[in-house]
Amino acid sequence: MSNSQLLSLLPVPTGSLQIPELPITSVNASGQSILLSLVIPTYKERDNIENVVSILSQLLDEAIPENYELIVVDDDSPDRTWEVAQSLMSEYPQLRVMRRQDERGLSSAVIRGWQAAKGRVLGVIDGDLQHPPEVLTQLVASIEQGADLAVASRHVEGGGVSSWSAVRRFLSRGAQLLGLMILPGVLGRVTDPMSGYFMVRRQAIAGETLNPVGYKILLEVIGRGSVDEIAEVGYVFRERKEGESKVTWKQYVDYIHHLFRLRVSTGRLGRFSQKAGFPIGRFLRFGLVGLSGVFIDMTLLYLLSDPTTLAWPLTRSKIIASEIAIFNNFLWNDAWTFADVTTKQQGWRQRLKRFLKFNIVCLAGLVLNVLVLNLVFNFLIPNRYVANLIAIAVATIWNFWVNLKLSWRVTDVK
Ligand code: GDD
Ligand code: MN
Repeated sequence: MSNSQLLSLLPVPTGSLQIPELPITSVNASGQSILLSLVIPTYKERDNIENVVSILSQLLDEAIPENYELIVVDDDSPDRTWEVAQSLMSEYPQLRVMRRQDERGLSSAVIRGWQAAKGRVLGVIDGDLQHPPEVLTQLVASIEQGADLAVASRHVEGGGVSSWSAVRRFLSRGAQLLGLMILPGVLGRVTDPMSGYFMVRRQAIAGETLNPVGYKILLEVIGRGSVDEIAEVGYVFRERKEGESKVTWKQYVDYIHHLFRLRVSTGRLGRFSQKAGFPIGRFLRFGLVGLSGVFIDMTLLYLLSDPTTLAWPLTRSKIIASEIAIFNNFLWNDAWTFADVTTKQQGWRQRLKRFLKFNIVCLAGLVLNVLVLNLVFNFLIPNRYVANLIAIAVATIWNFWVNLKLSWRVTDVK
């Protein structure tokens, strides 16, 4: 390795995970645009990276010379995979390397790589040689023959897994079955929706904001992209020779989370929500959290004020009960309902600020609640329970809307 002069790393794109319609620079040395950008996500692949780059380059130099680029996206591996990759750049002119220090995760790594890509076709392959490189040429050919998406599959002719345990096979198929039940429109379109080895036409996903959790980026591409024709090419998932897999139980949890999220945002409700400009999913979460608050409020009110328990004065009990319920609701809303916003604004000061705002909004909500109850009961529907339901509904919408706009406002202005 002659690394006397290191070539510079690719800057890491920031902001939302959206693929640009047109690559930033779309021409290579000979003045034509590039066909393929192949991302290789890596985490602790020091012992594999050189081999991978050399094999892929050799293959692509023959098939589509100068018409491709390899983009290694490394998540600041402690074994310094990025450094090894960087040292290879002088020897492999089609190689580019990105070192991510602020973000983690396989799927977002792939998308960040695609955002920096120059190609008309965007692809991904593992950096541990478990995906056989020879299949690449067939994937490229499928796209050139008109497919929008070409997936390397373990479950079509020519495909398989080498020596997986019964448990791993079972988990893999179980995950697929679950996915088919939750998102048939997405998982039903390919035989191997778990594949991490595929290529997609840029046009099919450009402009969409991809939002994957965990490992399964292909679900995101099919679910949110506009993919018409899909081709599948069989491959055998090989054993790892160097390094180790990063799959843990967390990937299974992430996967299920991902399925539900895609289901909600691409389902009828999600499309309606988008058209109406109202975040229905968020509102449902907010409502659920609200219910937990009602439960806490009721329980505490009983424990503090009931003659058979502490028998404190009603008002004092109610204030304590509500405040604790508000605190409960805040914690859940902060960690769950508005999780996407809070991850960008952590830190105790900001959290405290959100809590104070939430508290004030909820108190105003309480005033509104009483007001509406009186108005409806006295002038519209002389049934206190129906009137109360209406009052609660109005206060919930108020609480949600104002908190959305005030407490958990996204403040990252470009
Ligand atoms: N940048 C980055 N960040 N890369 C990562 C990360 C991460 O957090 N986690 C894993 N990788 C890289 C690994 O270095 C490897 O190159 C590739 O992503 C796949 O990770 P493995 O840990 O080797 O996954 P696997 O072998 O169990 O699963 C693979 O095969 C499945 C079946 O086709 C993955 O490709 C899955 O996506 C695929 O579904
Ligand atoms: Mn692997």
